[in-house]
Amino acid sequence: MSTRRFMVWITPGLTRMFSPKRWSVVKVFSVILTIFITWATILVLSGSETIHRFRIRLIPNTDILPAPLNHKDLMSSKNLAASLPTDDELVQHLRNQNGALDPYISDKLGINRISGGSPYLEVPDMMAEVPSDLPTPYKKVLILVEDTSAPLVLTLGQFFGQQRIDYKTLANKAELPRLTSVEDNSPKYSLFVFDDFVSYLSMPESKKRVLDEYCSYYRVGILAMSQSARSGEIELFSDLKLKIQHRMKLQHYKLEPSSPIWRVGKPEAVYQDQLPSQDWSVFTASHPTYRPLAYSTVAADWDGTKTDVNVTKFGCVVAIHDIGMMDKIQKIIIGYDINFWLNSIVGMDAITFLSNGNLGLTLDRYVQVDVDDMFVGKTGIRTHIKDADAMAASQEKIRKIVPGFRWVLGFSGGSFQTGNPEEAKGDQRMIEIADKFIWFDHMYKHEQPHLLNATHLRQSMASNMEFAQEKKIPVMRDYMVTPHHSGIYPVVDTLYDAWVEERGVTCTSTEEYPRYVPHWERRGFIYKGVMVIPRQTCRLFTHINTFEEYQGGKEELDISIKGGYLFKVFLYTPVMIFMTHMSNYANDQLAQYSFEHVTEFVAQYTNLRMQTLPPVEIAKKYFQLYPDEVLPIWTNPCDYNKHMETWPKEKSCDHFPSFVIVGPQKTGTTALHTFLEAHPALKSSKKDPQYFEEVQFFNNKNYAIGIDWYMKHFDDAEKGVMQFEKSANYFDNEFTPQRMFALLPNAKIVVILAEPARRAYSWYQHLRSHEDPTVMNYTFYEVVSSTENSPRHLRDTRNRCLKPGEYATHLSRWLKFYPRNQIFLVDGDQLNKDPIMTMNKLQKFIAVTPYIDYYKMLRFDKEKGFYCLVEQGCLSPSKGRKYNPMDAESSRLLKNHYAPHNAQLRTLLTDLGRPHPRWLMT
Ligand code: A3P
Repeated sequence: MSTRRFMVWITPGLTRMFSPKRWSVVKVFSVILTIFITWATILVLSGSETIHRFRIRLIPNTDILPAPLNHKDLMSSKNLAASLPTDDELVQHLRNQNGALDPYISDKLGINRISGGSPYLEVPDMMAEVPSDLPTPYKKVLILVEDTSAPLVLTLGQFFGQQRIDYKTLANKAELPRLTSVEDNSPKYSLFVFDDFVSYLSMPESKKRVLDEYCSYYRVGILAMSQSARSGEIELFSDLKLKIQHRMKLQHYKLEPSSPIWRVGKPEAVYQDQLPSQDWSVFTASHPTYRPLAYSTVAADWDGTKTDVNVTKFGCVVAIHDIGMMDKIQKIIIGYDINFWLNSIVGMDAITFLSNGNLGLTLDRYVQVDVDDMFVGKTGIRTHIKDADAMAASQEKIRKIVPGFRWVLGFSGGSFQTGNPEEAKGDQRMIEIADKFIWFDHMYKHEQPHLLNATHLRQSMASNMEFAQEKKIPVMRDYMVTPHHSGIYPVVDTLYDAWVEERGVTCTSTEEYPRYVPHWERRGFIYKGVMVIPRQTCRLFTHINTFEEYQGGKEELDISIKGGYLFKVFLYTPVMIFMTHMSNYANDQLAQYSFEHVTEFVAQYTNLRMQTLPPVEIAKKYFQLYPDEVLPIWTNPCDYNKHMETWPKEKSCDHFPSFVIVGPQKTGTTALHTFLEAHPALKSSKKDPQYFEEVQFFNNKNYAIGIDWYMKHFDDAEKGVMQFEKSANYFDNEFTPQRMFALLPNAKIVVILAEPARRAYSWYQHLRSHEDPTVMNYTFYEVVSSTENSPRHLRDTRNRCLKPGEYATHLSRWLKFYPRNQIFLVDGDQLNKDPIMTMNKLQKFIAVTPYIDYYKMLRFDKEKGFYCLVEQGCLSPSKGRKYNPMDAESSRLLKNHYAPHNAQLRTLLTDLGRPHPRWLMT
């Protein structure tokens, strides 16, 4: 019981006792005893509140970082690839992250591909009560909503998206999805969210039972909003001993100090202003399971019926915690939109608490504010002496809240003292006090690197350095940024090469990866040893230099600072690098104003630990928090105007395929590729010295080299000619569908489904012919029957032999990215025995013209036992090999092994409305 509740409970008794009519020796004694008990209780309660409430839960595993970041070793593409984790290592690592792999297997991939929270998360101590043998659910949230198109759905998505928590949104009226994974029954959700508490209560009984049982068994909680839109003023839930009064207009807000949920929230801070909207819900409960979380006060001008609400100051409970005394399920209900900043804070702490610390963000906030273009700016809006001094002064102020804070200035020496005389003095002043700040290098004349050749680029960098030496500017060498982020993403190799070779740059930042909007989906990556981390904007652009110029004026800027956009960036972004410009520090000194006030506000209302570090250390922190971002996910610059603006002109968007044969291996991919190559309007990728007719970009280390490498495999576009590629290992590679979809979202995907046991045997024979040491030492049966106790190399070979044939698993993964109508399934049996039919169907699917009659191009070769091209002849002897039939024991084993996978494939194909391959029918 909280101190406040205790006082409420005891006050009536005390009043009666102090009535003069009732005095007696016994009563005097009782009064003394009561005062003593009260005092003791207050002491105990306040003491318990001072107990250290948090503990470090997880130690991050940073092994995956390509450490050390020695630029010299990382220069060549080959070294670059070698320095990165293999896909297998990455998969293993992500698995160890307990659920961070979920983006790769979640249903909504591509839309909600946000990975789990921070490995540094600190959680309230009482969560240690969760039994240690209980499996930890995936770091994923299931949001159940009344109407999927309601604005609140977007708000909830943003709330979780900004914290990088993976979520799935479903209409509550739809069937409940499976709550445990098919593979190993592990629990799939760490939290359930309802956009309306009432819709949780009114779920059909059987459905609610499943959800409730899951929640109470796995100790997973429910977070709900209360919505008044469809209900009257008061809803009474007598069974629950809960009353909700809607449509309230409120003022003031404070948190209940005795609640155990607070991490970000700071109960000692009291908000004394009006609350937005007239749509708040207020909770009144008459059961000890309910604990108030946040209080407010009825607004003076509220015109509803006051009989049912407590009109005393902070008498309205606007967020309530049901600790689960009735149903063993912890629930938190918030009485208004989670987008309102104080509710956002309650929501953040609620999700950590209700998920037993499985979800949420660290409390650390690393802050860096870059002044991107020192000395660059139009005459009339540049810094004067007073502005330079104000920068130094505001830095001092911010340092009191953010220890060690310094503005980080990027300069272009070529523009030094190019303004009017007062501005020239301002530039000079910056040089005089240069030691106070951190300086990084820009281009000398503020040029955009993607427009320069390598020599010019290096010259510009050298000139800027000479300027810095002449002016004695203390320049940091390992962090650089370019004008307009040119060359950073989309990556321009000349820039990275110059940075790494000339300067030893190890980190930079951009707002452009993978794209500018939405800002919370910006991510980081490492390329050529340079850590690229995402930037935030504070909405002070080069043309916004006075309060008037800020959209909505000073009032809007203050809203942004006090709970609005800028505040939320602090709330949700553990590593922040803001972009500002020199002119934002001149004129009305908007940048100084914004950062002084926002840091003050954050410190007043949250427990966030704002701090700073040198840029390289901040970048390292970023990748420690988000190690699965090391490898970039390449996108096509031509799909996004903003990227096209910094994409070198000589690069072309034509060097990408229209369709891709993705495998799997040993299903007839070479035959299909060869037959397509014979078509006059189809052109295959160029032969690769290492991979012959394949490219193998998306599935291995070539991917880290970047899209220039991939594009080299394709020619300039020819009118009427479609380019394609085939890499048979793409199909079953865990990363390829996501990567391919990011780069080639419109490509058509061709998959061959051959009888999986036959495919496995063909693969074994293929390895034998290449004298693979493992298969040379083991029979086919020994390979496929190996178990977990077999030697590692044998188990690995078994997996490589059998896994690609588990078609339903892999196909489902492709379908998470590509729409079904972009995927063509070839019946491997038909390709063997009736390729003419296959080729005819495929031509229609890819819509190639002219349509060629393959009847004239293919003929059956009796000796080869396969179809061959009339003109070019048969495939090489390595395709369509002669070998003994599979032994009966292996055949039986494989039949059993593939039976469940084939059953899944049958269901999947039926769901897709696709015909079943002949071999699947038997
Ligand atoms: P085998 O060599 O085991 O018979 P891939 O090209 O994907 O590696 O697949 C090779 C398989 O393609 C061969 O396996 C063969 O069965 C099949 N195939 C299908 N049509 C073929 C053709 N026209 N010529 C040769 N092999 C063909």
